[in-house]
Amino acid sequence: MAILVTGGCGYIGSHTVVELIKNGYDTVIVDNLYNSDISALDNIQKITGVKPVFYECDIRDKDGLDKIFTENEIEAVIHFAGLKAVGESVAKPLMYYENNVGGTVTLVQSMLEHGVKKIVFSSSATVYGDPDRVPITEDCSLHPTNPYGNTKYMVEMILRDVCVSDPEFSATLLRYFNPIGAHESGLIGEKPNGIPNNLMPRIIRVAKGEAEAITVFGKDYPTPDGTGVRDYIHVVDLAEGHIKALRAAKAGAKEYNLGTGTGYSVLDIINAFEKASGIKIKTLDCPRRPGDIATCYSDPSAAEKELGWKATKTLDEMCVSSWNFAKDK
Ligand code: NAD
Ligand code: UFG
Repeated sequence: MAILVTGGCGYIGSHTVVELIKNGYDTVIVDNLYNSDISALDNIQKITGVKPVFYECDIRDKDGLDKIFTENEIEAVIHFAGLKAVGESVAKPLMYYENNVGGTVTLVQSMLEHGVKKIVFSSSATVYGDPDRVPITEDCSLHPTNPYGNTKYMVEMILRDVCVSDPEFSATLLRYFNPIGAHESGLIGEKPNGIPNNLMPRIIRVAKGEAEAITVFGKDYPTPDGTGVRDYIHVVDLAEGHIKALRAAKAGAKEYNLGTGTGYSVLDIINAFEKASGIKIKTLDCPRRPGDIATCYSDPSAAEKELGWKATKTLDEMCVSSWNFAKDK
């Protein structure tokens, strides 16, 4: 029996495949390589000694999925495949609904037709929008503020409805906070296409001399140093969360925050990166970025209590591994 990993060549997916293999699972990856590279497979093999079975296929391709479920004995699906750029989702909402929502519907149809009844889904803290309170618990209200966030919210609802219709179906909805960092080998990590939007890849561009300075979006937030506060989590901790979620999964739908529970500001991250890399990062004070919130960090205690999972890696490890991966790419 194997675990089917959709989007397994991507950033979080490739780290999760490594952890699955380390934990003795057979893996099958389906990815259309829209935002990743086939070289991820060789790098997974270099780290683990095992090359996962791979299908280059879009999850909207029902025949392609049926072939995968027919050719492999799949016990569960970890579903990462999706588009994730908030700004792009505002400009191209239908592309996001078609890929993230439509793709999931096709995937679950194929799962059900082949008797596969367990899914672990990549949701996001973005479903909380501007949160009711921090730290955010899973029962905070859900009000995403952009099409990308809406797709995550809609997929959560779809999976809940499937669980109601089929009492044996299990859906674990993992709401990630801000993943950064890379595998310690430096072989896999985040490789954004084009100019990145997220803080860590943008700091790295400055460190590599590809940009002059990091734009600090707002110094007037009601936070200790005035800059935005987020819950950054090491991608390897996040990947381990999927193994725990897979093991603990029961019939029905259940949501968990995957974060560290600690908030760091933009300036905290820049300072930590400077310390980890030994490189001075020039900053440029800019107005707030539209749509940003002041503070977002998790209460991850439900995942600890019910999944037996807790993030353990430090901010220094996140920065060191991010730089170790990116510096010569
Ligand atoms: P990523 O872009 O690196 O990985 C996604 C992978 O899915 C890519 O390899 C891409 O080629 C593939 N893919 C996209 N659409 C596909 C399709 N229709 N069929 C087959 N493959 C397809 O992104 P990531 O950072 O690894 O994120 C993985 C998941 O986690 C996404 O669903 C994302 O929305 C979610 N998430 C990410 C973050 C983050 O900050 N990175 C935060 C919260 C949630
Ligand atoms: N920031 C800067 N300068 C930059 C980039 C970011 O100051 O050049 C700041 C932002 O204003 C924010 C913080 O750094 O305060 C983090 O920004 P990111 O873009 O890295 O992350 P966000 O928290 O805005 O968004 C991320 C994902 C979204 C997801 C959201 C909630 O990119 O997809 O977390 O999970 F929806």
